[in-house]
Amino acid sequence: MVIFYFSGTGNSKHIAELFAQKMNCACHSIEEDTDFEALIKSAETIAFCYPIYFSRVPRIMREFVSVNTELLKGKKLIIFCTQLILSGDGARAFAALFPKNYMQVIYAEHFFMPNNVTNFSILPDSLISDKRIKKIALKAGEKMQKVCGDIKRGKVHKRGFNVGSRALGLFQAWLVKPSEKKANNSVKITQNCTNCELCVLICPMKNLVLENEKITHRHNCTVCYRCVNKCPQKAITVAFHGKVKKQYKGL
Ligand SMILES: Cc1cc2nc3c(=O)[nH]c(=O)nc-3n(C[C@H](O)[C@H](O)[C@H](O)COP(=O)(O)O)c2cc1C
Ligand code: SF4
Ligand code: SF4
Repeated sequence: MVIFYFSGTGNSKHIAELFAQKMNCACHSIEEDTDFEALIKSAETIAFCYPIYFSRVPRIMREFVSVNTELLKGKKLIIFCTQLILSGDGARAFAALFPKNYMQVIYAEHFFMPNNVTNFSILPDSLISDKRIKKIALKAGEKMQKVCGDIKRGKVHKRGFNVGSRALGLFQAWLVKPSEKKANNSVKITQNCTNCELCVLICPMKNLVLENEKITHRHNCTVCYRCVNKCPQKAITVAFHGKVKKQYKGL
């Protein structure tokens, strides 16, 4: 068994590592420079973990799947999706990247995690208070304990696969379409930027570059919010351009 994850700001990494620890399996970020073909070929069961972006699988994860589709055929599949409040059919959305019965879904679950869209005014800073983060981490640990117990006993569970979740997911996907596209074209840098290039270094899409003494972008953002939460000057925003007050530093 192996788990692959994408994590913009640490939540999905936390869940993937919890799983790997409890199941004693390998754990790899899809950003790693490693031999994914060999890893996939050697595992019977493959788990994936990613953050939900309005009921959609992040583009970077969709692209990873697209490159490795052939290799994944016939494998047993475990899906974990992390969310702030609600993802509708967030886990099912991953299974939907494959033709029907291409893989055997043996477990799918959603995990409530802290907010990382820290510059969206309707989401208050209290969502990432230390107290709340601690509480969420504790609950996630308890939930993972149960999930791993289920998987070891062979219990099949598919969160987000029912008709109601699907309807909610369709609605959310319809809402986000312009946002994903908008983010590709909508990265803003304020005058507070010091050209430190931290964002260039950490962007998983190599979307940011320093050109003519200015940070600019290549229309290739996966809306992971990593740069927004890490910039020492709070000088960069993507998709939404509200003021960044408190940044999310992960669990
Ligand atoms: C662009 C974007 C869209 C999001 N959409 C949703 C959503 O529809 N529902 C939800 O509950 N959380 C949503 N979130 C919150 C993240 O899914 C959640 O914080 C996740 O755990 C972040 O994982 P990460 O730290 O591994 O990147 C969204 C976050 C981003 C950046
Ligand atoms: S991390 Fe912030 S300050 Fe540094 S180059 Fe990027 S936008 Fe500018
Ligand atoms: S530009 Fe920022 S939000 Fe977009 S992919 Fe890069 S780090 Fe993530």
